Amino acid sequence: MEIPPSDVNLAVDLGRGLRLPNPILVASGTFGYGIEYGNVVDVDRLGGICCKGTTLKARIGNPPPRVTETPGGMLNSIGLQNPGVDAVVEKYAHVWTTWRTPVLVNVAGESVRDYVEVVRRLDGVPGVAGIELNISCPNVGAGGLQFAIDAVAAGEVTAAVRRATDLPLLVKLSPNASDIRPIARAIADAGADALSAINTLSGIAVAPRRDRALLGNIYGGLSGPAIKPVALRVVYEAVQAVKIPVVAIGGVTELADVLDFFAVGAVAVQVGTAIFADPALPVRLVDELAAHCARRGMSSYRDLIGSALPATVGRPSAKGVEYRP
Ligand SMILES: Cc1cc2nc3c(=O)[nH]c(=O)nc-3n(C[C@H](O)[C@H](O)[C@H](O)COP(=O)(O)O)c2cc1C
Repeated sequence: MEIPPSDVNLAVDLGRGLRLPNPILVASGTFGYGIEYGNVVDVDRLGGICCKGTTLKARIGNPPPRVTETPGGMLNSIGLQNPGVDAVVEKYAHVWTTWRTPVLVNVAGESVRDYVEVVRRLDGVPGVAGIELNISCPNVGAGGLQFAIDAVAAGEVTAAVRRATDLPLLVKLSPNASDIRPIARAIADAGADALSAINTLSGIAVAPRRDRALLGNIYGGLSGPAIKPVALRVVYEAVQAVKIPVVAIGGVTELADVLDFFAVGAVAVQVGTAIFADPALPVRLVDELAAHCARRGMSSYRDLIGSALPATVGRPSAKGVEYRP
């Protein structure tokens, strides 16, 4: 029987007291520090804000060009341009305290020490509701191997950050790993409260004259609708590998995408690239989700979660990712 949309419970608990008013967040790097969209979007209607990647020192980012369109998506190589953690705290945290919507600071680094130091400076700062660790960064001490594609490194950085703060801790998975499950398990075992998945896929575009790579940094991160099937697969595998909640990211442009991610077990979703074309999308999705549940008489959106997962969790595979091309 149909119920009023306002009666649908959209709240979600990501652990360690991080309770979001609804499961629609905005993804890191696509919504600035939240302030930038203040005149266009009612930020207090969002479930959560993952702010721009933040590092210990200010970074000027990569050389231009930094973005290009691709079929069904875009490639970006912003290179974590940001003013550094101290400036972020000074400029934005007091504004965040005035919002109902929790702000998660997305943290990046080039060594375990970098991550720990950034997180220490965020610990206890009013307005900072939690941390999202961007571990898709080269570990300079390990010859540039990304933390996110190595279970030992991913576990180590998570454990070190866990020791440095009691803030709710999300760790963001990279799709550029051959098998996500041991990595997800290492992160969960190291004390993360939740996972988010996925970051961008590594890619390249060629310049119009075909005399070089198009992006100044050569490599970029692919995002947008083109990556949604990959994100669905990673979420599907991660939720079956760990007991902590998983927040889905990748190619969300409409309610059907949100419902698909819930079906494979995500408890919340982040909207990224689609915000550039339609900043009002995330708030509209909140309303559409409530209306969808209300029409079906669901008093909580949680009934949507996991409907496409296998009834019994199979034994972990020794073969790695089980796709058969
Ligand atoms: C321009 C741009 C900048 C981004 N910057 C960050 C970042 O600083 N840290 C991070 O963890 N992810 C960053 N991302 C990745 C997004 O948060 C998201 O994981 C990815 O874009 C997939 O979601 P989408 O397909 O909805 O965009 C960025 C993405 C874009 C397009």
